[in-house]
Amino acid sequence: MPLKRQKVVLIGDGAVGSAYAFAMIHQGLAEEFAIINHTHEKAVGDVMDLEDATAYTHNKRIYAADYDTCKDADLVVITAGAAQKPGETRLQLVSKNLKITKNIVDQVMASGFDGIFLVASNPVDVLTYAVQKFSGLPQKRVIGSGTSLDSARLQVALSKLFDVHPNNVIAYMLGEHGDTEFASFDNATIGGVPLLALAELKDISMDTLLQVEDDVRHKAYEIINRKGATYYGVATSLVQITRAILRDDDEILPVSAPMNGEYGLNDIYIGTTAVINRTGICEVFELPLNDREKDAMAHSAAVLQKIAYDGME
Ligand code: 2OP
Repeated sequence: MPLKRQKVVLIGDGAVGSAYAFAMIHQGLAEEFAIINHTHEKAVGDVMDLEDATAYTHNKRIYAADYDTCKDADLVVITAGAAQKPGETRLQLVSKNLKITKNIVDQVMASGFDGIFLVASNPVDVLTYAVQKFSGLPQKRVIGSGTSLDSARLQVALSKLFDVHPNNVIAYMLGEHGDTEFASFDNATIGGVPLLALAELKDISMDTLLQVEDDVRHKAYEIINRKGATYYGVATSLVQITRAILRDDDEILPVSAPMNGEYGLNDIYIGTTAVINRTGICEVFELPLNDREKDAMAHSAAVLQKIAYDGME
């Protein structure tokens, strides 16, 4: 039997979607890459532009499509929806984006799709929860980008503080991808050394670390105030998650994952670490939280649950 091409469908060819498409092509991750956009001509134009790049990269087939293309896709990535304007919170997008998401998921499922959803539209934890409910797919096959971008931001900020490469920093933001997210410093390491031990050696105070956490929490606002949107960071986080799925990597990544008792939570998607492979969320990798972090997780969950339940009534 011939090997099946790996196929990714992107839904939403806005700033995040097209940055993701560009990054995917440079990584040569999917042999087949389809783009669906509410204005089809924008997708056609982007494909014409992006396919020029394939002369120097690996992807064989990139095309603009309609929902029927989802039927044999391995992965459908949703970046469609309204984005935050300056001063707006992610949660304020919920009613608009829930409607858009329902419409998208209905059309994807009508194609006969039976793969994995990766959701990036905001508020991402609420919309990921909604995609799982709307699609009826197993929970492990619906993944949100969650705090992957925020964790990358934390890594970068800590790398500057400790003067090392961001790759040497393992540190996660957890909870809501939004205003109630928090850093888990107790579980962070730099070059294998516990971050808190290294901070003590280097005379870096807890106040400084909490300031880093706060800066990370507000970084999207800072970017949006300056350039109207964020896209390169989140696009790269999406590529990381895509790679772990398509290459069956069993990689521990921060994502928005379904809770089934982890952190004492149920019936919610929230930012946590999880093992990602070709089955989707292979398992939630529950981190041991200290008291501050436990309280922050419970608070984040309460905020998200209220928005999700009210929005889906
Ligand atoms: C971000 O954090 C706006 O959610 C987007 O960059």
